[in-house]
Amino acid sequence: MKAHVVTYGCQMNEYDTHLVQSQLVSLGADMVEDIDSADFVLLNTCAVRGKPVDKVRSVLGELRKEKAKRPLVVGMMGCLAQLEEGQQIARKFEVDVLIGPGSLLDIGKALESNERFWALNFRDELHGHIPPAPQGKLQAHLTIMRGCDHHCTYCIVPTTRGPQVSRSPDDILRELDMQLAAGVREVTLLGQNVNAYGVDQGARLAGYPSFADLLRMVGASGIERIKFTTSHPMNFTEDVAQAMAETPAVCEFIHLPVQSGSDRVLRRMAREYNREKYLTHIEQIRRHMPDAVLYTDIIVGFPGETEEDFQQTLDLYDEVGYDSAYMFIYSARPGTPSYKHFTDLPREVKTERLQRLIAKQKDWSARRFAAKVGTVQEVLVRGDAYSPGFLEGHTRGQHPTVVPKAVGAEGAGIYQVRINHATPHMLYGQVVDAQGRPLEELPQWTPEAAALSSPLQML
Ligand code: 5AD
Ligand code: SF4
Repeated sequence: MKAHVVTYGCQMNEYDTHLVQSQLVSLGADMVEDIDSADFVLLNTCAVRGKPVDKVRSVLGELRKEKAKRPLVVGMMGCLAQLEEGQQIARKFEVDVLIGPGSLLDIGKALESNERFWALNFRDELHGHIPPAPQGKLQAHLTIMRGCDHHCTYCIVPTTRGPQVSRSPDDILRELDMQLAAGVREVTLLGQNVNAYGVDQGARLAGYPSFADLLRMVGASGIERIKFTTSHPMNFTEDVAQAMAETPAVCEFIHLPVQSGSDRVLRRMAREYNREKYLTHIEQIRRHMPDAVLYTDIIVGFPGETEEDFQQTLDLYDEVGYDSAYMFIYSARPGTPSYKHFTDLPREVKTERLQRLIAKQKDWSARRFAAKVGTVQEVLVRGDAYSPGFLEGHTRGQHPTVVPKAVGAEGAGIYQVRINHATPHMLYGQVVDAQGRPLEELPQWTPEAAALSSPLQML
């Protein structure tokens, strides 16, 4: 069988795609690069906003046409599969296999079945399952927990992924060891709310470390770079900032979604913190790590958001001076409390606010990126950039970075790089040795080369 998986949504989905692909390969499937040569196409879907759902609908429409022409099995997994909305879509587009986020290990049974196969039950074995390490990659994801115990009124994830279940520290460290043995040098620990690791449904699990201690344990494994996502400000503790600062492998990078700068909106979102508490966390992070790179998520146009509320979000952006942000227009998702109880704002109001927020983000990102010129950054190079003769990678702070190939730096690896130019979403530099001397005299960044180089790498 030739199989192809298309991934939408977040890093949790990327990890789940890797897990399912490993299952498919162990069942004898060949993973192929394109849909046309596959006889099993599986869409790993996202349900967090209307747009990714529309995208899946249109791809399934295409696949239904394909099915009329040749033998093809179509499958859907991920968050949308778990929802009534997704199941209706699956019926409409004649999807053969439907696998919910808790039923990934049922993929084998799905392929054995000759009829429509739906698996939507959460299976406990999933938490103890250790997928093989990715091969030939310097970066890997590692899920430390699944699900979420918060009930933000806009969010569908507690419905799709269920309550929080932390994976055992033994399983996490075993998976990490396998990744290390496979040559992985940067790991991203994943969870909907990593700061609540080890405290599931309000109860601290015996023998489980706090997230701060887990960071220290992972830091002692020999891995060179550790990142994590996502943090919920409600569960953020100063101990995490401290563990980050004192564990050399943990990168000075934190993604702390604020969603809104207005207390009134935060209350209506049921975020369980206010602006002041959020800013206290930022102060703690900056005190322990003065150079920390800060990213956030912001939703604009939440129901009832006034111009004054929105101004408070803009003010907060200035107060923190984020390095970058993921910005979303509020999307009313069926099944969420805000969909049921609140009235959506007019589209034009939301779009206009998003434009103003994007302008602010661009302005701050330009300043933050420009401040890196003249510094030496540790860059994990993934491989060739689009422009010949250049390599692309990212810093510990997640800045996409382009460097010319040099003797001793011809491919993937971790290098010290002196930054000599910045755009609002890219750094350009030259590989240097431990004393800061260029490994080789090479032509430096040019606008022509930059125009060809890779676009902003998304988290
Ligand atoms: N509308 C818009 N954005 C949303 N997010 C989650 N739910 C919604 C929604 N209904 C955003 C939040 C979250 C990110 C993953 O997606 O900002 O942090
Ligand atoms: Fe990830 Fe949330 Fe989308 Fe599910 S709904 S794929 S958890 S972003």
